[in-house]
Amino acid sequence: MILTVGNTKGGVGKSTLALQLALALTARGQRVWLIDGDRQETCLSAITVRADGGRPSIAAAAYPDGRALRIQVKEQAKHYDHVIIDAGGRDSTALRGGLLVSDAVLIPFFPRSFDVWALNDVAAVLADIRVENDGLKAMAVLNAADPQGSDNEEASDAIADIPGIELLPVRLSRRKAFAHASGAGLHIDEYRPRDAAAIAEMAALVDTIFAG
Ligand SMILES: Nc1ncnc2c1ncn2[C@@H]1O[C@H](COP(=O)(O)OP(=O)(O)OP(=O)(O)O)[C@@H](O)[C@H]1O
Ligand SMILES: [Mg+2]
Repeated sequence: MILTVGNTKGGVGKSTLALQLALALTARGQRVWLIDGDRQETCLSAITVRADGGRPSIAAAAYPDGRALRIQVKEQAKHYDHVIIDAGGRDSTALRGGLLVSDAVLIPFFPRSFDVWALNDVAAVLADIRVENDGLKAMAVLNAADPQGSDNEEASDAIADIPGIELLPVRLSRRKAFAHASGAGLHIDEYRPRDAAAIAEMAALVDTIFAG
């Protein structure tokens, strides 16, 4: 599958999820290519930290330019079981380029009003992209969910009303382990101290996206 992790809103966990999905699929024996479409190269930096820590590296490249990204993915996707694209923040050429060549987009959002409103913006981008790529599947996932309170449900209800975007039945909670593991370039399974709840949430997300 070619999967873009994207949102026109910044700071919602795109790089965290792109990295974790790429590492999870690799751990499951799949051939994965991780593409960093963000000028800040967050994912590539994490992969470098990973290599410095002596962990086996994964195939990764940076294409902040949408056109170069599209050309490279079209040419090289056949060598991999999965291509995971971190589109970076905002409505960039990398985001649109990634969406044009993807089978699906994963849209993380936080359980906050601004994040929910931003998904209407994403829906408009998707409508545009689907003129060219009408098979593009869109999946929203609640990320950094609160341990309690009504915000998770309120945000989820609002997203469920947006046409053209499917709300996944799984969510990721706000957990230090996700942030710390990703900063060290580690799959949540590799991170210590072991966080069983975080591991279970990530495994459920991978199953939902890739086993379906
Ligand atoms: N589930 C989570 N639990 C705790 N922290 C999280 C979680 N998801 C993301 N974060 C933290 O939130 C911040 C933003 O995450 P990340 O950098 O992945 O977002 P992004 O969408 O890629 O941002 P940008 O738009 O700047 O590229 C980071 O500090 C990350 O560690
Ligand atoms: Mg990022």
